[in-house]
Amino acid sequence: MTTPRLSVKDLHVQFPVRSGHRKQTLRAVDGVSVDLKPSEILGIVGESGCGKSTLARVIAGLTEPAHGSVELDGRPLPPRRTVQEQRAIQMVFQDPGASLNPRLTVGAVLTELLHRHGIVDRARERERAEDLLRRVGLPARAYDARPRQLSGGQRQRVGIARALAVEPRLIVADEAVAALDVSVQAAILNLFADLRVSLALSMVFISHDLSAVQAICDRVAVMYLGKIVEVGSVDELFSAPGHPYTRALLAASPSLEETAAVAPPLTGEPPSPLRVPNGCRFHPRCPLAVEKCHIAEPQWEMQGEHRTACHRAWEVDDVTAAGARHPRGIALNP
Ligand SMILES: Nc1ncnc2c1ncn2[C@@H]1O[C@H](COP(=O)(O)OP(=O)(O)OP(=O)(O)O)[C@@H](O)[C@H]1O
Ligand code: SF4
Ligand SMILES: [Mg+2]
Repeated sequence: MTTPRLSVKDLHVQFPVRSGHRKQTLRAVDGVSVDLKPSEILGIVGESGCGKSTLARVIAGLTEPAHGSVELDGRPLPPRRTVQEQRAIQMVFQDPGASLNPRLTVGAVLTELLHRHGIVDRARERERAEDLLRRVGLPARAYDARPRQLSGGQRQRVGIARALAVEPRLIVADEAVAALDVSVQAAILNLFADLRVSLALSMVFISHDLSAVQAICDRVAVMYLGKIVEVGSVDELFSAPGHPYTRALLAASPSLEETAAVAPPLTGEPPSPLRVPNGCRFHPRCPLAVEKCHIAEPQWEMQGEHRTACHRAWEVDDVTAAGARHPRGIALNP
């Protein structure tokens, strides 16, 4: 079996928060395990606040977990990483403008990184930086541009070049296309797909946009309230979702090319991670919840490599298709 490029094991991230005089612990990531193969793109989806960015930051070494480990190519990475260890996993953020110094030219940003990490000698820095620009679809003359002279899409390409400059083994893209116009989004997605082939790039791709995930990811993990509740190949998960939450997310995403999901829309907000429900954490919003769901946390149900944490995994298809009623009497299809 190939060693995974990335292996996240039982990761927990907790934040101390105060409400009034009370100190509480917010469980932002609550026991996440997932692998990523070399050259694979893994999507992570889920509603706002479910812990996607926190997970991304731990993978990239920017936030320390309370428990659990992150392994790269079979080697555990310490929670506090050296500069060399930081180099191996790079993030691409939603708003590259915010992290680019307006006074520095693109060339200065890239050459400073190349220098700091000793990637090429001074004499070859410019050539290498222009090479990176070409790789991300920018003309070599972008070397002398300042961020304000670039469009949003061009700035994001600089953000990607900056991540690639240090020759990472993994990129974590957190809502990297969310702030861009639709046509620019498509161009950046194409760029990621090209880079995966040309550089054998592995990537964690976090997005609210399921059609973007469908377009470029191989596999997808669905998060709910700090936990992964379903993982599978994009084809399997989109055509035969096993978890009621996944079904609801898919059904609420009209831009998807095709999905077999028929489900009532999600109602209400997810509960606060300060008050994670007992049993299955989705039970207060789940149209299929039964008594057991209130008490026992569901274990993984497997269909090959497609796994779903639900006491009624894959049952939902028949129930919704038949327009049946919930065992406790709640109509599934209004
Ligand atoms: N530094 C922090 N201190 C306290 N709480 C935090 C901190 N960072 C994140 N959280 C909380 O952790 C939970 C997960 O947040 P996170 O940003 O990871 O979610 P997300 O899935 O990325 O959401 P979005 O889709 O809106 O980006 C949220 O309840 C958030 O308020
Ligand atoms: S375990 Fe129960 S409550 Fe949770 S998703 Fe499955 S059916 Fe719904
Ligand atoms: Mg986020």
